[in-house]
Amino acid sequence: MQLPIPSHCPNTNFIYFILSLLISINLCTKTESTSTSCNEGYSFSKMGRNITHCKKLGTLKAEFGWNYHGRVHDFPNNRSSTLVDIFFSAPPVGATGWVAWGLNPRKPFMAGTRALIGFKHPNGSMHLETYNITIDTKRGCQLSSSAIEVEVNDKNITYSADSGFLTIIATLSLPQEYNISKLNLVWQVGSVKDSMPQMHDDTLKNFDSAETIDLSSGKSTSVRHRLHYHRTAHGVLSIVGWGTLVPIGAITARYFKEFPVKFCGWYPLHVSCQISGYLIGSTGWVIGIYLGSSSRYYDFTTHRDFGIIIFTFSTLQVLALFVRPKKGDDHLRYWNIYHHLLGYTLIVLITINIFKGINILRPEKIWKWTYMGLVSVLAFVVISLEVFTWIKFVKCKRLNHRP
Ligand SMILES: *[C@@H]1O[C@H](CO)[C@@H](O)[C@H](O)[C@H]1NC(C)=O
Ligand SMILES: *[C@@H]1O[C@H](CO)[C@@H](O)[C@H](O)[C@H]1NC(C)=O
Ligand SMILES: *[C@@H]1O[C@H](CO)[C@@H](O)[C@H](O)[C@H]1NC(C)=O
Ligand SMILES: *[C@@H]1O[C@H](CO)[C@@H](O)[C@H](O)[C@H]1NC(C)=O
Ligand SMILES: *[C@@H]1O[C@H](CO)[C@@H](O)[C@H](O)[C@H]1NC(C)=O
Ligand SMILES: *[C@@H]1O[C@H](CO)[C@@H](O)[C@H](O)[C@H]1NC(C)=O
Repeated sequence: MQLPIPSHCPNTNFIYFILSLLISINLCTKTESTSTSCNEGYSFSKMGRNITHCKKLGTLKAEFGWNYHGRVHDFPNNRSSTLVDIFFSAPPVGATGWVAWGLNPRKPFMAGTRALIGFKHPNGSMHLETYNITIDTKRGCQLSSSAIEVEVNDKNITYSADSGFLTIIATLSLPQEYNISKLNLVWQVGSVKDSMPQMHDDTLKNFDSAETIDLSSGKSTSVRHRLHYHRTAHGVLSIVGWGTLVPIGAITARYFKEFPVKFCGWYPLHVSCQISGYLIGSTGWVIGIYLGSSSRYYDFTTHRDFGIIIFTFSTLQVLALFVRPKKGDDHLRYWNIYHHLLGYTLIVLITINIFKGINILRPEKIWKWTYMGLVSVLAFVVISLEVFTWIKFVKCKRLNHRP
């Protein structure tokens, strides 16, 4: 199929712009972060404690400080262990929410984490206990406090009404399986009901709340940093391809084919918008599938399933071009009905799924407002053209009926 590429469609320049945008975002993303001075800017810095290292964690506004004492020999048990003072602060969900900090001896993820969970009871007293987070917790079983292998001493928790942060302080004695040059740190916040910590939210920020850290240098690596570029690319490409070019292509076909405006170039314009939308969107889709497969410990099933349906439907739309009946063929009518039905369904599914994707990022507002703006502009254009169509339709009818 040979198609002239019309200049109306935002083709190469636009794609070039998007690519350079993505590259610049990538350059700004560090894959490693280090700790900084702890004297100010931390909610635990004024507690008069000896904190040698601290850093802001990647999500949930959490902060982590520590003081590493080195290895000690524990004579009664004849074991050597590592002593660390830890300071962890985060704003809970509401004044009575819980905050948690823990270490996972295996990998930086929730199941298997030995955690400290703290919150404020409605009567004002504080709660801070150790919890063994298992795979059952992930399945939704109610969490209750239990012993953990890590010895916890001098634990305390304070709530600062000024900053709204809960701060957990403790001295840990880490057994040998915790290598301080690659500790898997996990943190989380959530709400409390009947003195029981409830399941945390299911946003990306909550799932990303883990890092592998080297306590002697403060250097850390996180999944969040590693995947940031891919997630941005997935979002931008999906919104540009599926969310912008595909609806523009549909508008072109609906309003500029014959009525209310006959524009001879509508067909190449329509096809090139849809093809470039399909190519850009599919690139975003492939990145999305990669993101889904690289997050083995959680998944966003509805968003993924919608994405797969959208990709399948739009592939069918593109393939249907090759079996389009010729003008004058009786089958063209049925082909058109099929093509329109699938096309409109597709646009509805795309809009829902982009909002679903944005919801995963909540409460990050920028994506939501950008896309809402885009949808409003497209809706405004469609409504205006629809009104224009009807006015023109009524006028034409009157003209035809004139005696
Ligand atoms: C703070 O801790 C470091 C490292 O453990 C130690 O060298 C220093 O003397 C401590 N300072 C105070 C004031 O306790
Ligand atoms: C302490 O453990 C080491 C090996 O881990 C062993 O060689 C030593 O005999 C033990 N000492 C006592 C007093 O149990
Ligand atoms: C506050 O409430 C909790 C849970 O209901 C209870 O365990 C605790 O003893 C209470 N503290 C005080 C000081 O009443
Ligand atoms: C904590 O849970 C793990 C399984 O995730 C289990 O192997 C371990 O023995 C538990 N620890 C304690 C102290 O019960
Ligand atoms: C915990 O911290 C609070 C405030 O810093 C303090 O008043 C309280 O005595 C501490 N509790 C323990 C057991 O150290
Ligand atoms: C801890 O991890 C570092 C870096 O992977 C490694 O070089 C070191 O041998 C490990 N230490 C222990 C005690 O396993």
